[in-house]
Amino acid sequence: GVNIGRLRDQTGYITVDPGFGNTAACNSAITFIDGEEGILRYRGYPIEELAEKSSFVEVAMLLIFGQLPAKADVERFRGMLTDEQLLHEGMRYHFEGFPSHGHPMAMLSAMINACGCYHPELLSSEMDDERLLRATATLMSKVCTIAAFSYKMTKGQRMEYPDPSLSYCRNFLHMMFSMPHRRYEPPLQVVRALTKFLILHADHEQNCSTSTVRMVGSSGANVFASVSSGVCALWGPLHGGANMAVIEMLQQIHDGGDDPRSVVAKVKDRKFRLMGFGHRVYKNFDPRAKILEQTCSELFDTLGVSDPLLDIARELAAIALTDDYFLERRLYPNVDFYSGIILRALGIPLNMFTVMFSIGRVPGWIAHWYELYRDPDRRICRPRQIYTGSGKREYVPIASRG
Ligand code: ACO
Repeated sequence: GVNIGRLRDQTGYITVDPGFGNTAACNSAITFIDGEEGILRYRGYPIEELAEKSSFVEVAMLLIFGQLPAKADVERFRGMLTDEQLLHEGMRYHFEGFPSHGHPMAMLSAMINACGCYHPELLSSEMDDERLLRATATLMSKVCTIAAFSYKMTKGQRMEYPDPSLSYCRNFLHMMFSMPHRRYEPPLQVVRALTKFLILHADHEQNCSTSTVRMVGSSGANVFASVSSGVCALWGPLHGGANMAVIEMLQQIHDGGDDPRSVVAKVKDRKFRLMGFGHRVYKNFDPRAKILEQTCSELFDTLGVSDPLLDIARELAAIALTDDYFLERRLYPNVDFYSGIILRALGIPLNMFTVMFSIGRVPGWIAHWYELYRDPDRRICRPRQIYTGSGKREYVPIASRG
C-alpha cells in the first residue's frame, strides 16, 4: 500500500510506496502493457505479431528509434553489428582474471562496463542517433561474444571466432556450439525459437533492471555503465534470475518424484514461491508465456524430442490455474515459466539462462537510456525517505563503550 509520510524539512507530504507499486517515475513511449487484459506492445505493435514476423535486429531498432526500420537501414545496421563482433585483445585478457567457475552474469556486467574503456568516442555527453546506433551495435554484438566466450571458458574449449556471414542469432549459436573440427548448423526451428526468445525479452517498460538503467543514466552516466547496472539488477531470482530458479524447481520435483499437487500445497503453506508465477503488472496471462509455451511445442515437435520438465511445468500450471490461492491473487505463469525449457532444448547451460535474458534485454535498456537522455525534463532520480532512526544522540568515546 501507499502511505503518506510527513517531511520535517519541508512543508507538505510525500508518499511512501515500497517497491514503487503505484508510483510512475517517467513518461515513456516505448512499451505498452495492459496487465488486466494481458496485452504487450512495443511501439504500438502487438508482441504476438513481432514475435512471428520480425527479426530480433529489427525489433531492437524499432524499440530504440521508434519505427520499423527500412530494409536498407537494417542492412546497414547488420554491417555495423558484424564490425563490432570481435573483442578488443585487451578485453580478452580480462577473462583471464576471472575464475573459470565464476558466474557468467558477474563476467557480463563487468565486461560491459569495461567495454566503455575501449570506446571513449561513445562515452561523450553528446549523443545523437548515429552515435547511439554505433553504441547499440557495439553492445548488442559484444554481449553475444562475451557470453559465448565465458561459456567456452567454463568448458575449457577454444573460443570460436564470430562468422560475419551469419545472422545475429545464427552467429551466436555458432560461437556457442561450433568446435574447431565440427561446425554447428542449427535447424531453422532452433534459430526461430532463439529469435522469439530474444524478441519476447527485449523490453518490458519500467521493470527492476530497466528502472535501474534509468536511475543510473539519470546521473548522466554513459550507456555502457548504465546497461551494465541493468545486468546486475536482472541477476536476482525475483527478476531475470527466475528463469534459472524455475528449472531448478522443476528439476527438484522431477528428481524427487514429487507429486505436483503436493508442491502446490507447499506453495500455499508459504514454504516457497512457485517460481515463474506471478507478476507485478500482469493480473492475467503474461502474453509472453503463452507464446513461449507454443514455441516449446513447435520446437519439440520439429526436433522430435521431449522434456519431462515441460510435462511437470504444464501439470503445475494446470493445477495452479484452477486453485483458489492462485485465482484470488491472480497469479499466472510469467515469461520465465517456459523460457528455461526452451533454453535447455537449445543446449544453453543453466547458469547462462539469465545471460540469455540479458542479451534479449539490451535493446530495451538502450531504448530507455536514450529516451531519458533526450527528455528535456529529465532530472536526476532521487527518491525521498521517511527517516525512522533514532533522534539526536550523545557521542560516546570508544574507551567508554561497553
Ligand atoms: N508463488 C506463490 N505466491 C505468490 C507468488 C508465487 N510465485 N507470487 C506472489 N505470490 C503471493 C504473495 O505471497 C502475496 O500473497 P499475500 O498477499 O497472501 O501475502 C501475493 O501473491 C502478492 O505477491 P507480491 O510479492 O506482493 O507481488 P509482487 O508484485 O511484489 O511480486 C513477483 C511480483 C516478484 C514477480 C512475485 O510474483 C514472485 O516472487 N514471483 C516468483 C518469481 C518470479 O517468477 N519472478 C519473475 C518475474 S517476471 C520477470 O522479472 C521477468
